Amino acid sequence: MSDRQSWEEQDSQLFIELGEVVVPGRDEQARLICDLIPASPNEHFMGVDIGCGEGLLSKAVLERYPDAQMTLLDGSESMLTRAAENLGEFAYQIDLRQFDLHDANWLEELPRRFRCIVSSLAIHHLDDDGKRTLYRNLFDHLAPGGALLIADLVHPPNDQVAEAWANEWDRDVREQSLARSGSLHAFERFQDGWNHFRTPDVEFDKPSLLSDQLGWLEEIGFTGVGCYWLRAGHAVYGGYKPSS
Ligand SMILES: C[S@@+](CC[C@H](N)C(=O)[O-])C[C@H]1O[C@@H](n2cnc3c(N)ncnc32)[C@H](O)[C@@H]1O
Repeated sequence: MSDRQSWEEQDSQLFIELGEVVVPGRDEQARLICDLIPASPNEHFMGVDIGCGEGLLSKAVLERYPDAQMTLLDGSESMLTRAAENLGEFAYQIDLRQFDLHDANWLEELPRRFRCIVSSLAIHHLDDDGKRTLYRNLFDHLAPGGALLIADLVHPPNDQVAEAWANEWDRDVREQSLARSGSLHAFERFQDGWNHFRTPDVEFDKPSLLSDQLGWLEEIGFTGVGCYWLRAGHAVYGGYKPSS
């Protein structure tokens, strides 16, 4: 992805096209997030998906929890259109809303009783302070016992780790490109500056250290805080609001 400071519709098109190849273990991440949601399969609960894109994570949640209700938030019109199409079978259980992650007020319009708040590959567009503030506000919007579950890029703790994650990400995308299409075409497009750990675009992608983020979550009062999965600098992490 090229030099720019905000997500554009052309980024949405590219991500819709290549997302299944460029995200390491995307289905595995979604499955794990569903496993981590504190609910039984037939429970009714409300969840929110921040930066939902074309809605694939919310779709996984609704397939696992068919009585759940999901609010899907994204800034991109084309992503929201795709999400509506992808989630057609759940039309009565979803609320699609356009929002700007950088606008401090979007949370005020949301209810304060989500059982789960999920997000994949969106929160890294906020800097350290932005994430910390967001996590504090999200804590207030969780029901007691609810979970904040994030899948995102994290900042490498040193150059050696950055290099190792960059190599691992390249290998994964190469394999996924071959497995899904039998060709290296998608991998070659990924090679054009997409690997953040090789060519960081720091004005646009601002992943934070995992250790810092887990610390902020603990400070805020989350329990069960941890990194539950990590591959090629893509982590699934989060925590739970205490039940009482
Ligand atoms: C890499 S995509 C991930 C989409 C989806 N969560 C997934 O994992 O497939 C990032 C998403 O964040 C959204 N996004 C990026 N910056 C945003 C902003 N400032 N406000 C709202 N949405 C934003 C984009 O529109 C896009 O759908």
